[in-house]
Amino acid sequence: MAGYGALAEVYEWLISDAKVTPSEFAAAFNDVVTLLPPDARVLDCSCGTGQLAVGLAGLGMRVVATDASAAMVRRTGELAEELGASVRAVRAGWEELPGLFDDESFDMVFCVGNSLHHVEGARARSAALESMSRLLRPGGRLVLTSRNWELVRAGGSRLVIRSQLVRRNGRDAVVAYRWEIAPHWEQEHRIEIAVAQLGAGGSVDVCSELLSSWPYRHDDLTSELQGVGLTVERSTFDPTAEDYTVVATKD
Ligand SMILES: C[S@@+](CC[C@H](N)C(=O)[O-])C[C@H]1O[C@@H](n2cnc3c(N)ncnc32)[C@H](O)[C@@H]1O
Repeated sequence: MAGYGALAEVYEWLISDAKVTPSEFAAAFNDVVTLLPPDARVLDCSCGTGQLAVGLAGLGMRVVATDASAAMVRRTGELAEELGASVRAVRAGWEELPGLFDDESFDMVFCVGNSLHHVEGARARSAALESMSRLLRPGGRLVLTSRNWELVRAGGSRLVIRSQLVRRNGRDAVVAYRWEIAPHWEQEHRIEIAVAQLGAGGSVDVCSELLSSWPYRHDDLTSELQGVGLTVERSTFDPTAEDYTVVATKD
């Protein structure tokens, strides 16, 4: 289950300020992007509303953006058109990628913004990583960002309401996350995300969606990457930090 049909429409309230501007989102990956040739072929395989893909295209790269959610792909296409960026946006889940693109045809693949946990369990996760690996040329890199699921699970089931209003497109919203943490790692977890936009005269427009999640430990992710021919070159994993980035190279 990919989800994000409803949340795609309010996704800007869910991303950090730094991700709203395409050039700023791409700049967050400067350390790896600067290793690429100027006309590199890159894939953002969980593109969301497209800010990273558009930012990379702005650097002159040949960018393909894919996502399992048709609504996300539509928004990516709209953003690219609005900003005059050349991005090929295609609806595709990770498992479909090898049927759509040649093996070894990308220099870099991005799977960022806490996306991988939506795939159903360890076997499907490895299959998704295998798809990403197949598309990379030897020496190419997968860039993956993740929540620290060790910390998320330690927090248990809970409701988290963000302590600051988020302002986008001239409207403020309250953002809330309801976590359903299962007793065991390998079980389905759930996250309900709500964006409550404050309107004129005290009205509140709520958009929410219940998403499924299969979390993983950092060590398991490292082994799974190794299992599909990707060697972790660097990882920012810190047991006390909420998120981390892994860069893995195709053997
Ligand atoms: C939290 S959003 C991250 C979006 C974007 N990368 C960002 O950083 O803002 C997770 C994305 O993963 C996508 N996704 C979930 N399951 C997927 C799958 N099986 N294949 C491809 N994309 C998937 C969702 O549709 C959603 O756009």
